[in-house]
Amino acid sequence: MGIVRNLCVLCASTFVESLDPSEMPGTASKAFGKIILFGEHAVVYGQPAIAIPVTEVQANVTVRALPGRNGNEIHIVARDIGIDGWWKELPSNSPLAATFALIKNHFKLDHLPAMEVNISSTIPLAAGMGSGAAITTAVFRAVTSFLGLKLDNTQLSGLVFEIERLYHGHPSGIDNTVIAQERPVYFIKGHPFKLISVGRQMIFLIAVSSKASRTIEVVEEVKNHLQRSPERIRSILESIGEITRHAKDLLSEGDTEGLGRLMDQNQVLLQELGVSSNELDDLITAARMSGAKGAKLSGAGKGGNIIALCDEPHERKIRAALADAGAVSVIKTILKVCA
Ligand code: PMV
Repeated sequence: MGIVRNLCVLCASTFVESLDPSEMPGTASKAFGKIILFGEHAVVYGQPAIAIPVTEVQANVTVRALPGRNGNEIHIVARDIGIDGWWKELPSNSPLAATFALIKNHFKLDHLPAMEVNISSTIPLAAGMGSGAAITTAVFRAVTSFLGLKLDNTQLSGLVFEIERLYHGHPSGIDNTVIAQERPVYFIKGHPFKLISVGRQMIFLIAVSSKASRTIEVVEEVKNHLQRSPERIRSILESIGEITRHAKDLLSEGDTEGLGRLMDQNQVLLQELGVSSNELDDLITAARMSGAKGAKLSGAGKGGNIIALCDEPHERKIRAALADAGAVSVIKTILKVCA
């Protein structure tokens, strides 16, 4: 045991059935949070978006065998979200229950060996940081590794997407992609994603506002705006797409001044789209006034968080200004140089 196998689905079921629970070592896996840097909302309508992993926050999952218990007896402990119970007691459409069902079905297993799954997360909830997708990703990673099976990142992302549908209705797929890949991604719905190179290390501060963002509701509002004023809204979405395409090149060139300006321009368009709020605008102004190179809301908006591009000399001042302007927490993330 302890060897993770890349098996065909049929071999996987034979292999898992041959496992002896008393000899199955426990496993631990994690998945990072994420944040959208450019292109939210426009991505729902076919424009590109850029998302980056936030390695400073993560979902952690451990799995251990429960010898003596029957198959499919899975004890799930997720105290952050108030869950401490058995798989089969959860509503079948709950994302966690569905995750275990999907693992069982994907590998065509008769049953899952009895196990205890412990889930914890430092990713803020309903803040556009991919907490749902990260928890699902970490569960897939920890459980498949416990079973001695392997999923590549693309398979993993596809399976997480199935669960994301339960959280978000019609997700674009950006969360599962960036969280499974753990790299900045350039994403167009329905197209293969591209990994983005980063030409210079960059520091971002993410300020979480006191109001949660309700992605489904805000996406629905934008849809209604689009129906009422198709030309105006379509032109805003296309301009956001243009900014995102340009931002991809500036990230690769390491042009932080240019990127900051693009973040500010993207924010103006998000305001015109009606998805900002006084609270988010105050945080953005505070970041800019204290030296950020650029700042914008991130995710669905109307709550959630903002992201500011900083440099080291201004970092402390910006952090303090964000706290003064009402941030519930400030998370720093460093985007490292990558080819
Ligand atoms: O708040 P988040 O991270 O769920 O982002 C929502 C981003 C939207 O573009 C508004 C919706 C989507 O599915 O991409």
